[in-house]
Amino acid sequence: MKTILITGGAGYIGSHACVEFLNAGYDIVVLDNLCNSSPKSLERVRELTGLDFPFIQDDIRDRAALDALFRDHDIDAVIHFAGLKAVGESVEKPLLYYDNNIAGSVTLFEAMQAAGVRTIVFSSSATVYGDPASVPIREDFPVGGTTNPYGTSKLFIEKILQDVAIADPAWSIALLRYFNPVGAHKSGRIGEDPRGIPNNLMPYISQVAVGRREYLSVFGNDYPTPDGTGVRDYIHVVDLAQGHVKAVEKLAEGPGVRVWNLGTGRGYSVVEMAKAFEQASGRPVPYRFAPRRAGDIAQCWADPAKAERELGWKARRGLEEMCEDTWRWQSLNPNGYEP
Ligand code: NAD
Ligand code: UFG
Repeated sequence: MKTILITGGAGYIGSHACVEFLNAGYDIVVLDNLCNSSPKSLERVRELTGLDFPFIQDDIRDRAALDALFRDHDIDAVIHFAGLKAVGESVEKPLLYYDNNIAGSVTLFEAMQAAGVRTIVFSSSATVYGDPASVPIREDFPVGGTTNPYGTSKLFIEKILQDVAIADPAWSIALLRYFNPVGAHKSGRIGEDPRGIPNNLMPYISQVAVGRREYLSVFGNDYPTPDGTGVRDYIHVVDLAQGHVKAVEKLAEGPGVRVWNLGTGRGYSVVEMAKAFEQASGRPVPYRFAPRRAGDIAQCWADPAKAERELGWKARRGLEEMCEDTWRWQSLNPNGYEP
């Protein structure tokens, strides 16, 4: 494995993965249509690594563009981050999500097959487990019961890749089920830059701390959890990105479909997150309790033992570092990549 195509490489997780692949000695090619990202993230990846790489601004649904990309570059493996990810928007615009995420992925897989590239790492999500019967969640837990088109698109793409491998056993496929990515590169130069009002907890908290929003609404305080608020497995985005490098190394060993949870194995509540962020930032994070958000589950955290056993990968960065690194990014870039 030498040259890696990174779809969605200008995005939050993708930009951190670009840094980790470049630092690990790979060549990369980035494909992104910039529908939810800024090209500045890629400039900063170049600045952080001192390395250059091609960027193609195009859509994974554009088969001709993909064919040209695979013709022009000798790609060994694909890391597939490109997709839309806003849960609420997916409920309002299911066809957009199914077209972008599922049709886009099918077009990408077709172009890979035509080009003879059969190694892929797919960004899946813990959301495919639905509301798990118990925690921690292992990879052999049943999938299904997704509550929105975003989650269903992840479930279907996993299934499509499994069927592709049945039809052609030469494929090497990793389905990485991420828990809740947070944090930013230590430099504070790249990080999460959501457009509009953040849907996710950590960017919302950091915008409260920096003074862009007045208070955090805590969605539900009557869950069956120690403090009544939702519990999630927050994982530092750099740990997550490094998991992709390990997955590519593992896929080089031979074909098949492998599934790994990428999480820390420990959960924190919404209120614990707000308090940890206050500590790390030295700024107040006022919050108010609000009704539960539709489709949310009480608690969700990973059993990450399989990834440690098989990939030799383990999340190393704790909650304090996640909050400090988010804060550095947020305070140095109060408006994200915008000036
Ligand atoms: P992001 O929105 O920051 O990055 C996704 C990137 O894909 C963006 O740069 C966007 O412009 C690009 N993109 C979207 N549709 C495209 C298309 N049709 N053609 C080309 N480019 C396209 O999101 P992220 O948080 O970095 O997530 C990356 C992946 O990880 C996504 O597939 C997401 O569903 C998955 N994931 C994210 C989380 C999370 O909480 N952030 C959790 C689980 C899984
Ligand atoms: N929350 C609040 N207030 C907010 C935002 C979130 O209280 O303003 C709470 C939620 O109710 C939940 C927790 O914070 O209890 C985490 O919520 P996020 O929206 O940050 O994350 P989710 O766990 O809902 O979902 C995330 C990603 C999905 C992915 C899923 C996998 O957004 O893409 O993790 O677990 F599928």
